[in-house]
Amino acid sequence: MISQNITRLINEQITKEQYAAQLYLSMSAWFCAKDLDGIANYFRIQSKEELMHADKMFDYLKDVGEQIILGEIAKPPYEFTNAVEIFEKALEHEKIVTKSIFNIVKNANDEGDFATVSFLQWFINEQVEEEANASQLVSKIKMVCDNPSALYLFDQELATRVFNPQTA
Ligand SMILES: [Fe+2]
Ligand SMILES: [Fe+2]
Repeated sequence: MISQNITRLINEQITKEQYAAQLYLSMSAWFCAKDLDGIANYFRIQSKEELMHADKMFDYLKDVGEQIILGEIAKPPYEFTNAVEIFEKALEHEKIVTKSIFNIVKNANDEGDFATVSFLQWFINEQVEEEANASQLVSKIKMVCDNPSALYLFDQELATRVFNPQTA
């Protein structure tokens, strides 16, 4: 039902989502080491969500009867200058993922592969949310990073985030 080109792009996207999970887990580890457990929790959940995204694509390839070929997941960075840099990198990364998903949608559209276009609609909406959240957090971390009591509250705010597999 879907072309080899689209199958390849989705297989590559699975690896990209898994890399995003690695990256966010590495960011979580950085915050753990700084005892900012709330922010660490936020990135840990981000990481789990990315794995769910990879799973969704895995299931889609299964449903359309195409071969799932997993790629190599690169080692994520683990040294960061400060918290602001991490949030900025997270936003930057979401933008890269959005572009990559748009590229698959464009290819699917050009090929008249409306099943894939429809499948990826969820991801298009998800990326709008991801970028909005990431961008808001960049603004917030910039507001609080030089003020320990504000940072403490920000950390507490992010500690309340819970993982919901239904909406991931
Ligand atoms: Fe994702
Ligand atoms: Fe994401």
